[in-house]
Amino acid sequence: MCGIVGYIGKRNALPVIIDGLKRLEYRGYDSAGFTILSDKGEYITFKKAGRVTDLEESIDFEKYIGNVGIGHTRWATHGEPTDANAHPHFCMEEKIILVHNGIIENYKAIKSKLESEGYKFKTDTDTEILANLINYNYKKTNDFVKAVQLSLGGVDGTYGIACLCTDEKDKIIAARKGSPLLLGVGDEEFIIASDAAAVLSYTRNVIYLNDGEMAIVTKNSHTLKTIEDVEIIRDIQVLDMVLEQIEKGGYKHFMLKEICEQPESIQNTFRGRINFETGVAKLGGLEKVLPQMLNAKRYIITACGTAWHAGLIGEYMIEQYCRIPVEVEYASEFRYRRPIIYKDDVVIGISQSGETADTLEALREAKKYGATTIGIVNVIGSTIAREVDAGTYIHAGPEIGVASTKAFTSQLMSLALITMMIAREKNTLFSKTLREMAQELKQIPEKIKRMIDRKEDYKSVAEKFRKSKNFYYLGRGVNFPVALEGALKLKEISYIHAEGYPAAEMKHGPIALIDKKMPVVFIAPKDRTYDKIISNIAEVKSRKGIIIALANEDDDNIKNYADYILRVPKTLGIFAPILNIIPLQFLSYYIAAMNNRDVDRPRNLAKSVTVE
Ligand code: AGP
Ligand code: GLU
Repeated sequence: MCGIVGYIGKRNALPVIIDGLKRLEYRGYDSAGFTILSDKGEYITFKKAGRVTDLEESIDFEKYIGNVGIGHTRWATHGEPTDANAHPHFCMEEKIILVHNGIIENYKAIKSKLESEGYKFKTDTDTEILANLINYNYKKTNDFVKAVQLSLGGVDGTYGIACLCTDEKDKIIAARKGSPLLLGVGDEEFIIASDAAAVLSYTRNVIYLNDGEMAIVTKNSHTLKTIEDVEIIRDIQVLDMVLEQIEKGGYKHFMLKEICEQPESIQNTFRGRINFETGVAKLGGLEKVLPQMLNAKRYIITACGTAWHAGLIGEYMIEQYCRIPVEVEYASEFRYRRPIIYKDDVVIGISQSGETADTLEALREAKKYGATTIGIVNVIGSTIAREVDAGTYIHAGPEIGVASTKAFTSQLMSLALITMMIAREKNTLFSKTLREMAQELKQIPEKIKRMIDRKEDYKSVAEKFRKSKNFYYLGRGVNFPVALEGALKLKEISYIHAEGYPAAEMKHGPIALIDKKMPVVFIAPKDRTYDKIISNIAEVKSRKGIIIALANEDDDNIKNYADYILRVPKTLGIFAPILNIIPLQFLSYYIAAMNNRDVDRPRNLAKSVTVE
């Protein structure tokens, strides 16, 4: 994700662009920049790594007077967050100036073609390649609109763009496929933006672009077309939201927005990394350490908090399907107990922020022993991502809510892809099984959507228990870490005590706490431990515990045991935790929201714990 703002009209463009980028910073904030067409007819650009406020503090606004400009706040996907990789990007001749939101999947093929035509590149981004492709087609057609249409027609992946051409000074072209873009229609002015938050201060009149569409905007006109050059007539819509809501896309909290983004974020995690026909998973970032991953006698996974729960699930996946021993370590403990680490160990650090001090130091410790270090990280170019020997980005997009939700499920998807890749290379899974996994993987976004559609059911259960003081979360096998994660979610945003436990462990002491006030959440999908879980439910029920069972949609038997049911679609074991955590995310969210907790910024917590 990222934020795009383009302006053309009666005002000085730069203040509008900076104001808009600040409103869009929740979409991505690792670097920012702009290009303004000055009133002297020159294109002046300023861009740098860091937040929009850093950019704002670095510029003398008086130097950038002009009525046309484009700006960008970046969420890097290709190329680290450096000044050079910040947007806008230029073609080699500096005739085409471009800001882009999304991923050009076939950027390598396009780059090779352009290099064969003599193009040279200055940055590591996929966006610069698109800028040069537009230039290449502009030189062929001498038509800016046609050049953009031809170029976008040859792109795989996603884009939202705003583009300038130095030969057509009073024009901005915007276009989108898979990344949002709209056109604010003001009084003698137009504002192009990734979402309405950036235009609301200037106009409530907006036109939303759909995938495959473009807007050609001048100081006093706007034309909509498809990239196949078919003219579009589209009504103006009037915004009726307040700004705060819009930045959250209409959701009350970022956390709820991010829970509901998981069909898309999961798709972004596996996009371009799995062949659905053959079942072959390919993680380019791990290619150079594949020999070490195949020859390792064990993997050590180290992380903190939610990422540590993901690691526990990764242990089940890798041991079960790759038959490689895995140890999972709290990073904060691992580094202080003089661990035994061998040169042929593979040490995997999982971290959404890529900045967690304990995880970073644990990985540094592993490097000292000569182990191969791998990162599973969300924030591109973060410290962990830069220091490990290799890694894979989970592409979950910016996660603003302190309580991790979409990053967790994208971590699990990344671990599943790694498992499928290693299992294939080690022949520990039949090709047929891998193909079945790949076909099921494709269904996961839809299955998550099914649970989002029934979120009111989860909300009604939350309503019953918002005043409870203690919860147990119980699961068996791979659902034990799911129980831990469900309990953490509730604790950290509602401040209600909750404990995750292996379901079978209850009878070894904790069952003493059960009474008629204690809600017990059982994670009870129909897997091979189902019958045992039912016995554990009966043990708790006989002691008057209140049973909340997470159960598959087709499970009628559970009605004989549970007081409340949270329904979850069935899936293959390797993907089950990805689905099973969703109702628990909703349960904790609604309990916290009903208790008027500061859901996105819970007390005492920080989004990234960069202290030990
Ligand atoms: C997750 O909900 C928590 N906010 C916290 O446990 C978090 O998972 C932990 O601090 C690790 O953060 P990281 O993934 O950025 O390393
Ligand atoms: N893929 C582009 C880059 O990495 C755009 C990323 C974004 O959406 O901010 O620069």
